[in-house]
Amino acid sequence: MATPMLKDKVAVVTGAARGIGREIALLMAQHGAKVVVNDYGGGSDGTGRDHGPADEVVSAIKGIGGQAAANYDSVATVAGGQAIVQTALDHFGSIDIVVNNAGILRDRMIFNMTEEEWDAVINTHLKGSFSVTRAAVPHMREKKWGRLINMTSTSGLVGNVGQANYAAAKLGIVGLTKVTALDMARYNVTANCISPFAWTRMIGTIPTETEAQKTRVEKIKKMGPEHIAPVAVFLASEAAKEVSGQIFGVRGKEIMLFGHMRPIRNIHHDQGWTPERLAEIFPGTLKHHLVPLETSGQYFNYDPLV
Ligand SMILES: NC(=O)c1ccc[n+]([C@@H]2O[C@H](COP(=O)([O-])OP(=O)(O)OC[C@H]3O[C@@H](n4cnc5c(N)ncnc54)[C@H](O)[C@@H]3O)[C@@H](O)[C@H]2O)c1
Repeated sequence: MATPMLKDKVAVVTGAARGIGREIALLMAQHGAKVVVNDYGGGSDGTGRDHGPADEVVSAIKGIGGQAAANYDSVATVAGGQAIVQTALDHFGSIDIVVNNAGILRDRMIFNMTEEEWDAVINTHLKGSFSVTRAAVPHMREKKWGRLINMTSTSGLVGNVGQANYAAAKLGIVGLTKVTALDMARYNVTANCISPFAWTRMIGTIPTETEAQKTRVEKIKKMGPEHIAPVAVFLASEAAKEVSGQIFGVRGKEIMLFGHMRPIRNIHHDQGWTPERLAEIFPGTLKHHLVPLETSGQYFNYDPLV
């Protein structure tokens, strides 16, 4: 048998009790990693606490002959991030791989969104990814090896109605990932994003009022969270040592490499710009190249290419 791709590596997977995180934790363990299963066991809006789901994943990993330890801290504070990484150090003596996957939703139109809804989502996704990363990278720097995998979303990359907090966090995670990739490049540590599409409880509330929405949900239901895990294992392995600062969309059997934000057209005026001059020249130049306002649902509503 070939050597397991993550043999002897120690991985932390946050939000690993359910959905995508659970599948990643199980597949990493199957590929030889010792896994810290972090999850506070809350509802999809972040309320409630339950140790049971994380314990169940630890048992499942032990059941297939793997090694795992549970951690129930929230990722949303720096102290929580430190405690999660400390669990890896205490149980397995190292921290090699971090998958920042924990997430919640508090959808609301921007004109109704409360400070609490904004903070809860930003703190879980964006600050949570920072907290665990911040605790792990000094160890990776010392060891000159590490893998960071962060979950972004097309809600941020493209846009989605009613998700200003979530989209801001998810696009923030792209910036966090790129700069972490730059800061850590010389230490043999990579950082990449996955933008998953998977039928989990998190997207169980997407609307099914129109026929088009119903058809879309039927398609998404066929895309289970198990499809995301192989990409995470690959990115965590030695095989992906030259892959850093990238965004991979994963949808069923399809893997997409995303583009990055770069200027697409520019205009220059010898005398510089006044508002009037810009108003005159804009329609014949940049206006032709404006990117239309779209939601991720509209943009990704084409048939999977598989
Ligand atoms: N499902 C999709 O199609 C989809 C699309 C885009 C992005 N994502 C992202 O993928 C990740 C996983 O989502 P999922 O669909 O598996 O959702 P899920 O609700 O099934 O799982 C998320 C897990 O995170 C845990 N969690 C939440 N806040 C936490 C915190 N502060 N500390 C520790 N654990 C916490 C929850 O208890 C839960 O078990 C999320 O970051 C999500 O934003 C998912």
